[in-house]
Amino acid sequence: MTFASIDALEQALREASYLPDRGLATALYLASTLEKPLLLEGEAGVGKTEAAKALARAQGARLIRLQCYEGLDVAHAVYEWNYSRQLLHIRAAQEGTVSEAELFGPEFLIRRPLLEAIESSEPVVLLIDEIDRADDEFEAFLLEVLSDFQITIPEVGTIVAERRPAVVLTSNRTRELHDALKRRCLFHWIGHPTLEREIEIVRLRVPGVPERLAAQAAAFVQGLRRLELAKPPGVAETIDWTQALAALGREELSAEVVEQTLGSVLKYHEDFESVRDRALVDLVQEARGAR
Ligand SMILES: Nc1ncnc2c1ncn2[C@@H]1O[C@H](COP(=O)(O)OP(=O)(O)O)[C@@H](O)[C@H]1O
Ligand SMILES: [Mg+2]
Repeated sequence: MTFASIDALEQALREASYLPDRGLATALYLASTLEKPLLLEGEAGVGKTEAAKALARAQGARLIRLQCYEGLDVAHAVYEWNYSRQLLHIRAAQEGTVSEAELFGPEFLIRRPLLEAIESSEPVVLLIDEIDRADDEFEAFLLEVLSDFQITIPEVGTIVAERRPAVVLTSNRTRELHDALKRRCLFHWIGHPTLEREIEIVRLRVPGVPERLAAQAAAFVQGLRRLELAKPPGVAETIDWTQALAALGREELSAEVVEQTLGSVLKYHEDFESVRDRALVDLVQEARGAR
């Protein structure tokens, strides 16, 4: 499904519980209009994976997800032969009556995410998540799939997508991706949201949260991001933390409660200690001033 305009896409994403900024909505709109893969980069927890999931919900499409990791290979990403099923088939057929062509037919394939997405006749959003974790060779392989939207299985032939899936790749940028892959894709960097948007996201994701608490928690986290931390907190941390504060019955921040719960925001012990010992009181005061 394509959208009539960027506004229409933005609205559909909102209805799917995702609040994109204008840049991301534009990138998603262009990717779906031009039928090009979209590469989303950004720090952990800024909403890359969720953007693809929300796009699927907004389009009424099926989400097919390939989680990348070191050592990911064709057998886990594309297809594998179902040996045990082939073996059963040989046993059932008695000696000599099974041809090789029969054994390497489509019914003996185990379909992994990429093949499933290429073969699907229904609308699909293919999420290739955290591509920076996969090895170079896999990235090179992916290049072919993404340029032609086809997969060749030697024993079966070439399978061409009847309908191109929408493709979203994400990267946490633990390494640079190859230029060739980037060239195939539209690109968008997701940064941390503005204060206003972050408050909106928190209120959407933590139903019933006191407005003041949402505003102060978001402002506090925005303050943390201005410090030089080893791992600045993402939106995910703001959501989790606000949820925790709400569960404790808090209506606003205080230095004590922040100190007790800061562990769900700062997951590096060094960050935790330096904030607790230096910036905490000022940041709380500043955040309380936000609303
Ligand atoms: N713009 C947004 N609108 C709604 N929820 C968001 C948004 N950005 C992030 N989130 C929420 O933040 C959390 C982390 O997002 P996620 O997509 O897992 O981050 P990433 O993949 O970039 O590490 C999720 O719970 C997601 O729902
Ligand atoms: Mg992710």
